[in-house]
Amino acid sequence: MFYIARRPRRNRKSEAIRDMVQETQLSLNDLIFPMFVVDGSGVKTEVSSMPGIYRHSPDLLLEEIKELQDLGIRAIDLFPNYPESLKDRAASESYREDTFYLKTLTAVKEKFPEITLMTDVAMDPYSSDGHDGVVVNGEILNDPTLEILGKMALAQARAGADIIGPSDMMDGRVGHIRSILDEAGFTGVSIMSYTAKYASAFYGPFRDALDSAPKFGDKKTYQMNPANKREALIEAQLDIEEGADFLMVKPALSYLDIISLLNDNFDIPVAAYNVSGEYAMIKAADRNGWLDGSRIAMEVVLSIRRAGAKVILTYFAKELAMGL
Ligand code: PBG
Repeated sequence: MFYIARRPRRNRKSEAIRDMVQETQLSLNDLIFPMFVVDGSGVKTEVSSMPGIYRHSPDLLLEEIKELQDLGIRAIDLFPNYPESLKDRAASESYREDTFYLKTLTAVKEKFPEITLMTDVAMDPYSSDGHDGVVVNGEILNDPTLEILGKMALAQARAGADIIGPSDMMDGRVGHIRSILDEAGFTGVSIMSYTAKYASAFYGPFRDALDSAPKFGDKKTYQMNPANKREALIEAQLDIEEGADFLMVKPALSYLDIISLLNDNFDIPVAAYNVSGEYAMIKAADRNGWLDGSRIAMEVVLSIRRAGAKVILTYFAKELAMGL
């Protein structure tokens, strides 16, 4: 007989005890479901690189949201897919009053006032260059982009957005959007800033979903270098000074250390975006019978939560809601 004073296995001996000592809980309150909307009616097309994720036309989107609400999902983040013909260099469709995305926001909010509606502020779905900023001679210009982002954010707030999500990584955009919103009386509209958004290959399937891939070059002059960690502290500090209500890290899985760093250093809630490529990898392996996709989905989202994200944007939200 060995004398072993401390036996951590005792706290794992039954399901009841394991549940009792479980440190991290996942709740539907923490999840935001990203969704894609396309103009038209009766349209529901699966994104080929994201099995189980669809582009819905507004009519079917509303039906889908009803289902999500019944499952207990309380927040969605809506992204539009625009045809090439409506894109231009200044993303002007993004704030045109009657554009289908803004009308959809209003329709969602009217029908589901208690659903938290998050929107995306960035030029890429509306830009003929496929970039998140104004392009002049191959360069992404910061300050001219801010003016467009301000108009876009204001139009989305007017249409009913609860949380504005600037995903562009221009300098000063949180402060600019905050002041535009406040001047127009939208002091109650929140900003979830894409604080540490990395120039990542994990966004590939999302760009398929929106047909929004850059037409030239990459996003490295505005999105962060995946090698950098200290720089995330600078971005977070600025976002807080500029008035952000949430910090976000994106992608999530390869950046758990960044989530943890921001959570340790700042007091506002940290969100993480479990992005399209992270979803696609798991779905692909599941389809091949190489791993159990549902168990992995739970493990992945739980690990993002454990790392320090209070809020998780994940394409697994509906699936998890069905299981939770
Ligand atoms: C656009 C935007 C992107 C994502 C969210 N907003 C793509 C990009 O920056 O190229 C990616 C989301 C995902 O991959 O799931 N500004």
